[in-house]
Formats: sequence, structure tokens, C-alpha cells
Amino acid sequence: MDLIEKAARKLKQSSRQSLVERAAGKLGGVSSAEQKADVAENPVARAAPAVAPEPAAAAQTAVSPKKTSRRVELDLKSLKERGFLTPDTDPTMTAEEFRIVKRSLLLNAFAKGDAAIKNGNLILVTSAQPNEGKTYCSINLAMSVASEQDLTVLLVDADFSKPEVLNTLGVTGGKGLVDVISETGVDLSDCLIRTNIPNLSILPAGRQHNLTPELLASERMGEIVEEIATRYRDRVIIFDSPPSLASSAASVLALHVGQCLFVVEAEKTTDNDLKEALSLISGCEHVNLLLNKTRFSGSNSKFGSYYGYGYQ
Ligand SMILES: Nc1ncnc2c1ncn2[C@@H]1O[C@H](COP(=O)(O)OP(=O)(O)OP(=O)(O)O)[C@@H](O)[C@H]1O
Ligand SMILES: [Mg+2]
Repeated sequence: MDLIEKAARKLKQSSRQSLVERAAGKLGGVSSAEQKADVAENPVARAAPAVAPEPAAAAQTAVSPKKTSRRVELDLKSLKERGFLTPDTDPTMTAEEFRIVKRSLLLNAFAKGDAAIKNGNLILVTSAQPNEGKTYCSINLAMSVASEQDLTVLLVDADFSKPEVLNTLGVTGGKGLVDVISETGVDLSDCLIRTNIPNLSILPAGRQHNLTPELLASERMGEIVEEIATRYRDRVIIFDSPPSLASSAASVLALHVGQCLFVVEAEKTTDNDLKEALSLISGCEHVNLLLNKTRFSGSNSKFGSYYGYGYQ
């Protein structure tokens, strides 16, 4: 049985369970190290508290977007109509599914002591091929985190050749990550865009740059991501990336983030693509699979998730 069949089978089983049971850790694990879909009990999810962990103590000292940085008004009504979550979303199936996904990521993000993960608050969202739902999942995950009272989230459009985050949110572009990487005079906080959701800000991809693959692989890229991790360590940073089989961006980012949410499109992503893509992002030790666009969901929503954990 291949990885995706196993994940789908697990989802079918779990869809018969209550959401509470599923949230309580009945979801299986995928080891990105061995790239097997052997299901393992997930002690972290089992121990999931009903509320999100407190942000790191560094919260008070972290740098926020400048008060002078651009502020935009997201059209929440339009987003809702297009199936996206907003902080005041009704408790739909989609909202509940993302809540479950979010809980496990947050536990890792702010784990302390032995369980602490370097840059655990940096989450890369990627998939093998185009159109599998990376941007959809990045935005919904960001919205779900933004609905937490004590947490702030920075959504980074790291898909430099097809930056869709701002378009989808109805925001016009501006300087962004590419500019920060390529121009030493551009400060990160100048590029952040604040929104009418007080704890959600956005970092655009920035201008098209024909040296992007080289820049991405450059030391500077690593420095910038580390800078984001240090300056904003109280917040959850979500990187929407290009497909890992189509661009080196995902594999480069995987070297710096603490966690990866890997989107698998039900009935589409092939086993070979999945294996190859997972090997490309093996720089990240904590890879979580999310099965998207399933038909197993009990509601009309196309979203359904098998959410797997893997520790190496
Ligand atoms: N679970 C879902 N339910 C409903 N629509 C979805 C879901 N996931 C993705 N979509 C839709 O599928 C289309 C492709 O999704 P999205 O743009 O997120 O893919 P992507 O992986 O980011 O693509 P690309 O690789 O081109 O950036 C979009 O129209 C999106 O709204
Ligand atoms: Mg996309």
C-alpha cells in the first residue's frame, strides 16, 4: 500500500471518530526520515491542551511591524464567501479541521525544554506540485492562528515566481522578502503589512528578480530567515512556498524552518512525487502531512485532513 493510500485509509477511519477523539491524538504519524506511512501514536497530539500554549516569554521584547508600516483592510466578507476562514468564522468543518492542524503545530512551535524545536515557530507550507492547495492552506492556517487571542501571525509569501497570497487576500503588492534579501538597505519591518485583523500581518514576496534561485540559495537568505526567527520569535511565521518539485525555494527554506506542513492533494499527488518532494525538504526535521481536497469530509466542504507527525 502506498503512502497516500495509507493516509487516505487513516482519514476514512478517523472521519468516523468524533473530532474530539481525532484531536486527542488518534491521528497517525509519518516519518519523513524513513518516508514510510507506518502509523504511529502521536504523544504530542494526545497531550494537546484545550488551549494554545502561551507564547514565549520573549513576546514583550520582540520587534513588531512599525506603526508607520502600511495597513490594509482585508475584505473579510469576500474571503468568507470564497471559502476562507476569518477570525469570526462560524464553527464549520473547515474551521475545526484547521484548528486541529494548528494545535499540533503550536505545541511544537512553543515547546520548551527538551521538546523545544529550533525555529519551531517558523512553518513552511509546501507540496510536490502546483495547485495542490498550499496557498489555500497557508491563508487558512494563518487565519486560524490569528483567531487565538494571545498569538500573532506573520504570513510570508515565499512563492517568488507565483506570489498569490496578496492577490487572494485582495492586497496590492509592495516591497517584500526578495527585496530584503537582495538589497541590504531594505529593512524587514518596513516591508510588513498590517491588516484589520490586529494579530495578522503579511510579508509580500517582493519584486520579481531574475536572480531569485541564486539569491534563495544564498547565505543572505539563510540570514534573513534567521533574522525573522529571532526578531519575531513570539509569533507564528507561515511561509507559503512554491511546489518543492518545481523550485528550489522550498528545499532552501526547509533548511531554516522548524516545521513543515506538506500538502498532499487527495487522488492527485502521486506516491513518487511525494517521496521525491519529501526528500527535497528533508532539511526540516518536523514534517507534517495534510491530505487536502478529500471527499471524506462529512460536510460539503472539500477540506479534509489526515494530519501526520514525524520526528526523526
Ligand atoms: N480544501 C480546499 N477546498 C476548496 N478549494 C480548495 C481547497 N484547496 C485548494 N482549493 C482551491 O484550489 C485552487 C488551488 O489552490 P492553491 O492556489 O492554494 O494551490 P497552490 O498549491 O498554492 O498552487 P500553486 O502551486 O500554483 O501556488 C484554488 O482555487 C484554491 O482556492
Ligand atoms: Mg500557491
